Amino acid sequence: MTIQVLALVGSLRSASVNGKLAEAAAALAPEGVEVTIYEGLADVPFYNEDLDVEGAVPAAAEALRDAAKAADALLLVTPEYNGTTPAVLNNAIDWLSRPYGAGAVKDLPAAVVSGSPSAYGAQWANADARKALGVAGAKVLEEASIAVGGRFQVFAETHPKDHEETAAELAGVLSALVGAVEPVNA
Ligand code: FNR
Repeated sequence: MTIQVLALVGSLRSASVNGKLAEAAAALAPEGVEVTIYEGLADVPFYNEDLDVEGAVPAAAEALRDAAKAADALLLVTPEYNGTTPAVLNNAIDWLSRPYGAGAVKDLPAAVVSGSPSAYGAQWANADARKALGVAGAKVLEEASIAVGGRFQVFAETHPKDHEETAAELAGVLSALVGAVEPVNA
């Protein structure tokens, strides 16, 4: 059985360094683990309870929910915007949190990788993403979540998957996620 990890990236720009960190996680996934970067976040409308009607949920939001339900674990990879998690990611978490108590992330192991050019590595966004995921019902791996800071200049030359320290950190995150996935036939 392949363990499916769904990666949601909080930056939509094509040259996103956080996007590269997600690519690195996908490239470093060990045998038996597949990391899929979700491509449709920009199309998901702002959460609105008027739209969240059974049988009539907007297709882009339904597709996000389906992707999370099909996944064994969730990996959020995020920059920090104005001291918190970018709206695109909060919006995704909102859709994944409903219906209340039974959202698509309920009990899903989840870790957060955050990255920024500063030495802090978007740690506020990281903390806020963990908090929101926890409230949404995910099984948040607090200790396994990492903040990648002060390396963006290096990543301009070296893809994070080829950067030894970053690769080791990402491998640790994946390993923790895999360890938190419940065996199907235990
Ligand atoms: C930022 N940036 C930023 N960085 C940070 O460490 N803390 C912050 O609060 C913010 N705030 C912020 C707001 C907005 C609107 C933008 C566009 C940027 C800088 C940010 O870390 C930088 O642009 C990263 O390169 C964004 O990540 P990606 O797009 O490379 O993944």
